[in-house]
Amino acid sequence: MNNSVGSFELREEDLIAIPVESLKANTPINFDLYASVGGGQPKRAKDIVLFASAPSSWNNAEPAMLKKCGISSFFIRPDEHSRYKSYLAFNSSQRSVDPNGTPEFRISQIQDIGAHLMEVCFHTGMDNLVLGRLQTVADDIVTCLTDDPRAVLHIQNLVDHDMYTYFHSTGVGILSVAMAKAMGETNAEVLRGFALGGLLHDIGKRETPLHVLNKNGPLLDSEWDMMKKHPEDGFNAVKSLEVPQMVRDIILSHHEKRDGTGYPHRLSANEIPLPAQLVSIADIFNALTTTRSYHRKRSRFEALMLMKQDMLGKIWSEGFKALIAALTEGENSSDGAELKSITV
Ligand SMILES: [Fe+2]
Ligand SMILES: [Fe+2]
Repeated sequence: MNNSVGSFELREEDLIAIPVESLKANTPINFDLYASVGGGQPKRAKDIVLFASAPSSWNNAEPAMLKKCGISSFFIRPDEHSRYKSYLAFNSSQRSVDPNGTPEFRISQIQDIGAHLMEVCFHTGMDNLVLGRLQTVADDIVTCLTDDPRAVLHIQNLVDHDMYTYFHSTGVGILSVAMAKAMGETNAEVLRGFALGGLLHDIGKRETPLHVLNKNGPLLDSEWDMMKKHPEDGFNAVKSLEVPQMVRDIILSHHEKRDGTGYPHRLSANEIPLPAQLVSIADIFNALTTTRSYHRKRSRFEALMLMKQDMLGKIWSEGFKALIAALTEGENSSDGAELKSITV
């Protein structure tokens, strides 16, 4: 471990204890680690030392050596808590979806794993390693919806604020695949492209300032300008990676509108790649049916009616029909009948 030791004016209540065992050998650690001089919970600021500054890493012998010295916990600063969470998500044993679970359970697992991976993407950026893991999630989405199309009904949208973008991205990936299947798409590569495109469509938001992203109220013009950069920022984030063209199209063009009022290039109608048009519908629907600071969660029926009344000139009508079909496939409840009654 590359040590750098010093004293820090930290208050006890400022620190978060983490178990030594949560740090895995030979993995890059991108947050500072503090230790208590006596090994226990620090009593005074001067009991805390910076044990290893980021970046650091373990070798196999170090955990045992630390235990011997009576150190079973490290401490991290709260501002690095999200880095630690991402580290855990990334280095925890490669979780995968239980193929024997019910569709409902599998979709919730996919959302959970997908959301944590998206959190990693947002904190560390895109690279081939993250991309490989996301491709596994994309495969899980396609397999799960192929086994049972109704699994799409189990997308969970109620999440706390921080996690919104991560869960939203996974939800959009799942819904996009369900819609493509409802349109008759059976090619596994194409379905996988929809899943990956949905997962990554908002990846450019990692460049958007958090105060803009989480603003509780209407954005100022200058803030809108920042927000509108995310499609191009996302496009650039995957530029050097091997992703299908349809994924690049989805990232860059998911905010274009058929009437030419969208961004970033104000494309109209058939100028907008169809995969982007489809994912943009899943994107709008997922956002409408989720609680945000500036609007309550709408029911599926309310969201579809709102889209029909206010957005039909802007979105692809065939894609909108596919959304209704995806949400009602095999659905015999009164809720399903109500959704099916919406005509385009
Ligand atoms: Fe977006
Ligand atoms: Fe989005």
